Amino acid sequence: EGFVVAILGATGAVGTRLIQQLEQSTIPVKAVKLLASSRSAGKVLQFREQAVTVEEATPAAFDGVDLVLASAGGSVSKKFLPEAVKRGAVCVDNTSAFRMVPEIPLVVPEVNESALYQHQGIIANPNCSTIQMMVALEPIRQAVGLKQIIVSTYQAASGAGQSALNELYTEAQDFLDGKQMHADIFPTKGDQKHYPLAFNLLPQIDVLEDNLYSHEEWKMIHETKKIMLGDMDASDIKVTATCVRVPVPISHGESIWIDTGDPTATVDQLRQAIADAPGAVLQDDPAHQVYPQPVNATGTRDTYVGRIRPDLENPGAFNLWVVSDNLLKGAAWNTVQIAERLVADDLVHPVVPATK
Ligand code: A2P
Repeated sequence: EGFVVAILGATGAVGTRLIQQLEQSTIPVKAVKLLASSRSAGKVLQFREQAVTVEEATPAAFDGVDLVLASAGGSVSKKFLPEAVKRGAVCVDNTSAFRMVPEIPLVVPEVNESALYQHQGIIANPNCSTIQMMVALEPIRQAVGLKQIIVSTYQAASGAGQSALNELYTEAQDFLDGKQMHADIFPTKGDQKHYPLAFNLLPQIDVLEDNLYSHEEWKMIHETKKIMLGDMDASDIKVTATCVRVPVPISHGESIWIDTGDPTATVDQLRQAIADAPGAVLQDDPAHQVYPQPVNATGTRDTYVGRIRPDLENPGAFNLWVVSDNLLKGAAWNTVQIAERLVADDLVHPVVPATK
C-alpha cells in the first residue's frame, strides 16, 4: 500500500530537504527512489532509517513511479518530467521549467490549491521569493485588498544550490584569513563575470535581461499574477521587484510596500489577517524588539511577518518585512505540501493522453 516516490536531484540543497520533508509527511510511501546525475550514482542515503542507493536519472528510472518531486535544475526537469508523465507519474517540479506554461498549475497551497484539479501530470512549484510573499500577502488581499506591490528581496546564498553555499563559506574563511576571495558561481553560474558574495551584496539573481530586470525579478512579477489572479500578465495588481543576494546562508528576507487600495485599512487589520492565516506567523512586537530574522526562521515551515507599519504619506499603503526558509517553504516543504494535497484529494493518477 502507498506510493512509489522518486526524488530527482536528491543529493542537492533542496533534494536533501525533500527527503526530510517526505519522511515527515502524511504521504504513505511504499518505496522511494533517489535520483541524481551519474556523479552521485552509487552514493547511499537514508530514508526513514532505510539505506537507499542513489541512481542515475534516466527515462527508465521512472518506470513504476507514482509521484516525482523534482529539484535538479530546469533543463533536467524539461528532459525527464515528460518521460515520467508518459510512464504514468504525477510530477511536482521545483524548477522554473514549466511555471509559465498557462495550462500547468503554479501552486502555493495556502493561496490557490484548487488549481491542482487542472493538472495534466506536472504541477509547478513557484520561485522561493514568490512563495513567501504570497503566504504573507494573500490574507491581506482577502481581508482589505491589494492593488500594488513594490518588493526588495534579501536572498540567502543557498537559493543558488549547495555548491554556491559552499562558495560563500570558503570566501568568508579566506577573507578572515586575509587571503584573496575567489568567486566561480555568484551572482549566477551561467553569466560571464563572478563576484564574491561574502561581506558583499549582489543586485543580480539569475541573468539580466534586455528589459533591464533580472530574471528573478521577472519571475516575482509574473508568478505573483499567475498565482493570485490566474494570469501571468494580469493588470489588476501592479508588481515591481528588486532582487538582491545577501551573504546569509539560509532564509530569504523581503521588504514589501503594498497599496491595499483601502484608505481606511489599519495596521491592526493587517496584523489580524496574518495572525489568522495558514502558514503565516505574526512576529511583530516593536516594544519588545520582536521581528522576523533568518536565523530564527531556518529549519521551520512557516513564513514570518513583522514590522507592519503604515506608509505615513499614502493612506491605505503599508510596509512589512517577511522572512521564510527558502529551502523549506520556498522549495522542499511547498513541494511536499502540494504532494500531500494531491494524495488527500485523490489526484495522483496517470494522465490519459488527450485524443484528437
Ligand atoms: P549531483 O549531486 O549528482 O550533481 P543543488 O541545487 O544543490 O546544486 O543540487 C542539484 C541537484 O541536481 C543534485 O542532486 C544534482 O546531482 C542534480 N543534478 C544535476 N544535474 C543533473 C542531471 N543532469 N541529471 C540528474 N540530476 C542532476
